[in-house]
Amino acid sequence: MPTAIVTSLPDYIEPAQRLAKELGYDYQPIRVHRFPDGECRVSVPTHPPAHIIICQSLHHPNDKLVELLLAIQTLRPAGVERVSLVAPYLCYMRQDKAFHPGEAISQQIIGRLLAELVDDLITVDAHLHRVDMLQQAIPLENAINVSAAPALGEFLQQQDLQPLLLGPDSESQQWAQQIAEVGGFDWAVANKQRSSDVEVRITLPDIDFQDRLVVLVDDVISSGHTLAQAAAELHQAGARKICCLVTHALFAEGALELLQQADIKDIWSSDSITHQSNIIHLADMLSTQLQTLIGD
Ligand code: R5P
Repeated sequence: MPTAIVTSLPDYIEPAQRLAKELGYDYQPIRVHRFPDGECRVSVPTHPPAHIIICQSLHHPNDKLVELLLAIQTLRPAGVERVSLVAPYLCYMRQDKAFHPGEAISQQIIGRLLAELVDDLITVDAHLHRVDMLQQAIPLENAINVSAAPALGEFLQQQDLQPLLLGPDSESQQWAQQIAEVGGFDWAVANKQRSSDVEVRITLPDIDFQDRLVVLVDDVISSGHTLAQAAAELHQAGARKICCLVTHALFAEGALELLQQADIKDIWSSDSITHQSNIIHLADMLSTQLQTLIGD
């Protein structure tokens, strides 16, 4: 009997298999059947080892949270003593306060749910802007948030572009700065005002963009409006070429087209969320972090 196996829900098989390979464990899937009414039937690996590593990003989270709940509550009575969740994209981290009376603080509520379900949790570039540490959102000792910035920086260094990195808002400074440090790139951040999910205004910093190759860097592309608007401003300011590099390719419907219309040439992302822009695999980094966490 192996000491651990890696598993995932059906939409995350390839990244989970890459993690299993890095760790030297077998991969076995969690199977999900969707009934016509939207309910699901979840089947977990039979005769599981004592340690299960679930590698599953939690974009489009509502179904996945229920599927994970059913899977884990089936695995525990089958003898699983330790559940490690590797969720490169962690859901519901953005609503970290009640912006209006009556709003659910989903970061805390979903954080508590996950903390009760699993023993270890690793995520990547979690959206933590009003809390300092992941444990404040996920009350679990073994909850860690790692950054993909070194991997993104190494990728960019290999492109040999001498770019100027631009974060579209103050929150993106951490990624712009860290990625820039890897390759010694110039970097700056813009100012963003968001008036709705799809309406943003970007004000560029007062530097010379004329003829520069600018790489927009951020944690997430969701609707695409942040980076499309930043690209429009950069074109106005004379940038020669604009590309973008992000950790999480959430890409809501129409986002890719929006970025292409904004004349963003290359769109690069990590495989935290499976998307055609994926070019940086995180398995190596995640396996190192997991081995450190579980003491393997
Ligand atoms: C915001 O704080 C994030 O870092 C991203 O800038 C934002 O989530 C991107 O969203 P969208 O693509 O919908 O503009």
